[in-house]
Amino acid sequence: MLFFVDTANLDHIREAAELGILDGVTTNPSLMAKEGISGEENILNHYKTICEIVGPDRDVSAEVISVDFKGMVEEGKKLAGLHENIVVKVPMIKEGIKAIAYFTEQGIKTNCTLVFSAGQAILAAKAGATYLSPFVGRVDDISWDGIGLIKEIYEIYDMAGYETAILAASIRNPLHIVQAAKAGADVVTCPLSAILGLFSHPLTDIGLEKFLADYQKANA
Ligand code: G3P
Repeated sequence: MLFFVDTANLDHIREAAELGILDGVTTNPSLMAKEGISGEENILNHYKTICEIVGPDRDVSAEVISVDFKGMVEEGKKLAGLHENIVVKVPMIKEGIKAIAYFTEQGIKTNCTLVFSAGQAILAAKAGATYLSPFVGRVDDISWDGIGLIKEIYEIYDMAGYETAILAASIRNPLHIVQAAKAGADVVTCPLSAILGLFSHPLTDIGLEKFLADYQKANA
């Protein structure tokens, strides 16, 4: 399973990259706004900087803000031309599916976002999306089963032989990461805090403290 970090914060991206386990980055307009990035030129430069930080062969999702086919195609081409790592992130709406089918024809990678149902997942796979982003946390937020959705999509994609990668998004904690892996997600995208949370185990801390103390005693 690939690990993407879901942020536009450059320090978080650097920290995740330095761990040596980072496979890519996803962003969205809210995450860009959170970092105070606005204006077309600044936004495009920020995407380029992210691509340079993560290095070659690591996908970076950059989201279009148009909601019509023509606008999405124009924006998507501009984004894709920025850097070879860029994946065009497109919302799960009719015009979005048309745009994904177009980008697929053109050999441009896509990430279909704002996915909340298995039906939507089928549409995105039919259009040839590279990645599909079902929002686990936001489904949980309304008392439905986000991880159950990942399992359902995995089952369908497996049976139908769809090649679209399931990118579990809206991951909020380390348990979501483990559950997404068990559910068959190909990728998880999560905040740095969720990735760092995977390290935590009290027995690791206690065990390390004892190893070091015993070493000190023996080598005093
Ligand atoms: O990038 C989409 C997704 O990961 C958003 O997560 O926490 O805002 O629901 P969240």
